[in-house]
Amino acid sequence: MTTRKNWEKSWRQISKTALLSIRKSSSLETLETLRVRLLGRQGSLTELLKSLKDLPLEDRRELGGPANTFKNELTTTIETRKAELESAEQEQAIAGIKLDPTLPGHKTPHGRLHPLTLVMDEMAGILAKLGFSWVEGPLIESDRYNFEALNIPADHPARDLHDTFYIEGGGAPGSMLLRTHTSPVQIRHMERTKPPLRIISPGRVFRHEAVDASHGAVFHQMEGLYVDKHVTLADLKGTLHIFLQRLFGPNTKTRFRPSYYPFTEPSADVEISCIFCAGAGCGVCKRSGWIEVLGSGVVHPNVFRAVGYDPETWSGFAFGMGIERIAMLKFGINDIRMFYQNDLRFLEQFE
Ligand code: DAH
Repeated sequence: MTTRKNWEKSWRQISKTALLSIRKSSSLETLETLRVRLLGRQGSLTELLKSLKDLPLEDRRELGGPANTFKNELTTTIETRKAELESAEQEQAIAGIKLDPTLPGHKTPHGRLHPLTLVMDEMAGILAKLGFSWVEGPLIESDRYNFEALNIPADHPARDLHDTFYIEGGGAPGSMLLRTHTSPVQIRHMERTKPPLRIISPGRVFRHEAVDASHGAVFHQMEGLYVDKHVTLADLKGTLHIFLQRLFGPNTKTRFRPSYYPFTEPSADVEISCIFCAGAGCGVCKRSGWIEVLGSGVVHPNVFRAVGYDPETWSGFAFGMGIERIAMLKFGINDIRMFYQNDLRFLEQFE
């Protein structure tokens, strides 16, 4: 039987300690235990409030108000303490994380230029100092630019050497094709420019060839063209000698051997003294002491006629070389396929 006297006794007991013990609770677990013990479904305060109904109405009126106010105060105090304990716990967790600012950071992998780009840039840099500027042309060409205007008519035997990928026309006049060399850029540039001029044109070329260690169906060339009045074979020799010495080193010797290209007359293939054996003879130069690096010649009058230049007024020289070949010699690479396999172990060696 609940009497007012009993009720008030329990009430005094609870209210005397509850608030203080909540404020003093030192962990979230203790606080939660306290909360359950006081306000849980069978908590002491809950039970006490429930037992109010057993008291006479008058007592209920008198005691109910303060009891509920107390319950609310208790709830707020618990919430406040909970927030305090939580933030303290968080601070402790952060303080526990050991931060060592002296540890080395993670390395970010960085890209670099492809060896072919490096060589192309170096060659273009040397030739830029000699007054040559960089121009580009399309990879898909017409028969006229790739052959016809370069003095290679439809039935010319030189066409057989080019292993052309035809897109349209199969070699008949007006065919479209993947350019087999960078020489068509000569024609395009002369058509839109008045002489004198000095250009280089690096870029991709295509040949229908079986791929092996020294041949690719896709590779790169760099073309050069110099047009002015009174340009002679001596200018060609001087320019290419300087270019090759700057590219391969000051001790490089050059030699010019008669050759044939339809778009130049006379034509010369240029060789450098072997950079691996300094001319003594080794496997790379096939015991000859010399390595062929480019084709060149004095621009054929028919080429000038094709672009509307007067061959009596203008003269010039041209040259063309394979960029892969130069890169292989410079870096000592013996398989052209390495350039295209995107193997990082290979690519990371070039800076
Ligand atoms: N176009 C020639 C080739 O693909 C290379 C070449 C030789 C270019 C002689 C020239 C040159 O401009 O004069 O084999």
